[in-house]
Amino acid sequence: MIQLNDKLFETFIRKEEINDKIAVLASEINSEFKNQDVIFIAILNGSFMFASDLMKKIDLNCEISFIKVSSYVGTTSTGRVDEIIGLNTSIANKNVIIVEDIVDTGITMDKVITLLSNEKPASLKICTLLYKEEAFKGKNIPHYIGFNIPNKFVVGYGLDYNEKGRNLDEIYQLKEN
Ligand code: IMP
Ligand code: MG
Repeated sequence: MIQLNDKLFETFIRKEEINDKIAVLASEINSEFKNQDVIFIAILNGSFMFASDLMKKIDLNCEISFIKVSSYVGTTSTGRVDEIIGLNTSIANKNVIIVEDIVDTGITMDKVITLLSNEKPASLKICTLLYKEEAFKGKNIPHYIGFNIPNKFVVGYGLDYNEKGRNLDEIYQLKEN
């Protein structure tokens, strides 16, 4: 059991399970993209640990780039405008795999897919360590899913609670009182 700010969390997915699952995901990707080039695009901040461990098991001619999605108030009547920061490589006609820590409602992923599709990649797939299927209401179901988890708040292994807990090497779930 651990405490972060005002909340208690209990162990949910142990590091051995995380490692085993990442090996499975990597081997699926390795066989599906055999003899092809791939660009991995990891979404900061949450995916830094997952991306790091996944990449060590990827055996392809590949590149990795880290992006952030930012939303700002535009000058048009449509309100907020989304943009991707940090994509410093061309993905036109390339195989792209987005690496994400968690897909919850799917809203963030829908924005990322919309923005990256504009760049006309040859293929665009989503690899997420965690997926909250019960909470999902997006348009883009992830192709590679580590764990389908209940709709409860989790931290650790890159995921935060008010920026705390990203350093934990296992995944913890909010403790019910
Ligand atoms: P979505 O747009 O609802 O799919 O979720 C977007 C972001 O919310 C994720 O990339 C995470 O940064 C964050 N998030 C969603 N669920 C959790 C959670 O259980 N713990 C920590 N962060 C979460
Ligand atoms: Mg995230």
